[in-house]
Amino acid sequence: MNEVAPRRVKVSGLRNRLAASRRFQRWASKFPLTRRKTRTEGEQIFDIVSGFVYSQVLLALVELDILADVAARPMTPEALGDKHDIDPKRMKILLHAGVSVGLLKLKKKGYGLSQRGAALLGVPGLEALIRHHSYFYRDLQDPVALLRGKVETELSEFWPYVFEGPDALPEGTAETYTNLMADSQALIAEDTLRFVSLKNVKRLMDIGGGSGAFLAAVGRAYPSLNMVLFDLPAVTAHARDHLEPAGLWGRTEVIPGSFRQNDLPEGADAISLVRVLYDHEDSTVQSLLADVYAVLPPGGRLIISEPMSGGDTPLRSTDAYFALYCMAMQTGQVRSSDRIAEFCEKAGFVNIRKPKPFRPYVTRVVTAVKPI
Ligand SMILES: C[S@@+](CC[C@H](N)C(=O)[O-])C[C@H]1O[C@@H](n2cnc3c(N)ncnc32)[C@H](O)[C@@H]1O
Repeated sequence: MNEVAPRRVKVSGLRNRLAASRRFQRWASKFPLTRRKTRTEGEQIFDIVSGFVYSQVLLALVELDILADVAARPMTPEALGDKHDIDPKRMKILLHAGVSVGLLKLKKKGYGLSQRGAALLGVPGLEALIRHHSYFYRDLQDPVALLRGKVETELSEFWPYVFEGPDALPEGTAETYTNLMADSQALIAEDTLRFVSLKNVKRLMDIGGGSGAFLAAVGRAYPSLNMVLFDLPAVTAHARDHLEPAGLWGRTEVIPGSFRQNDLPEGADAISLVRVLYDHEDSTVQSLLADVYAVLPPGGRLIISEPMSGGDTPLRSTDAYFALYCMAMQTGQVRSSDRIAEFCEKAGFVNIRKPKPFRPYVTRVVTAVKPI
């Protein structure tokens, strides 16, 4: 069979010209010193080409709850096919694909859970996050249209506060996104508290704090800390359900309100913004930080925690995943820690710190202080 002629594209730079040359590729794939690199490069290109399919395999495994099905003992494609009303031959394809992405393991008695699959099951909220990706995938169906701003995205409906006034959140939407956030808060709180000590803080206000999941983690770590939860009324309505079982209802003041429409409450000597700034456009971020500055006392602390761009060293997790996710939300934007630091500086903050993150795909922290 004749090989399809490669596209004639003018490539600059010797290395790139060689990499693009079919003749060089053929030679490099046989030459002992370049053979391995060529194969790895090829595999990496293939992974980018097929990443969406891997995600769909993951989504199917999670939707059908197959990781849990096989957690205790291996199961056959027949048994799983029967349980989920899927032809065993097709089920076998899914299970084999699950093995290929490392989530399942082929065993004598069928398909079992791999260590990676077990780790996935152990991450709080991850399955819910994967499930809600079906909205995101639909928004990404035509990525060029999304980039041109020509898609009415489902994610902007999932996070309705990005457009609508807080009184206009459609029934039930606040509860859906709040539960998703609460479920996925554990790792964020863990990584935030690695870098932030609240030993000298008396009263912490968490703005956009959802139903209080971050405060619940902080409250457990600092038993004498006094806390304030500030979020939209439709969200704080669910706070008691989360704070009371955690034994924190008595020491958390819940204040419903919108940081776009209402004054922020005073009295806290530290304020946290966890996964809040990246939802909003620059003008909202700037005015929110100015308001935070205004209500903090001299020496008061600001803690920002959210996934941030790698800046000049783009990362897949933040510069591909979160950047497109925020784009689909419509008003959101993943910013680098330097950019966020600039916003803090502009608002008047000093001592701005940007510690090296532990897991940049989970969160990154920027802290700042109001001058004394
Ligand atoms: C992405 S969620 C993060 C929730 C929580 N901080 C966490 O990390 O789990 C953003 C939060 O900001 C809140 N929010 C959005 N716009 C707001 C506004 N104008 N005033 C107060 N809260 C707002 C939302 O209701 C939501 O709870």
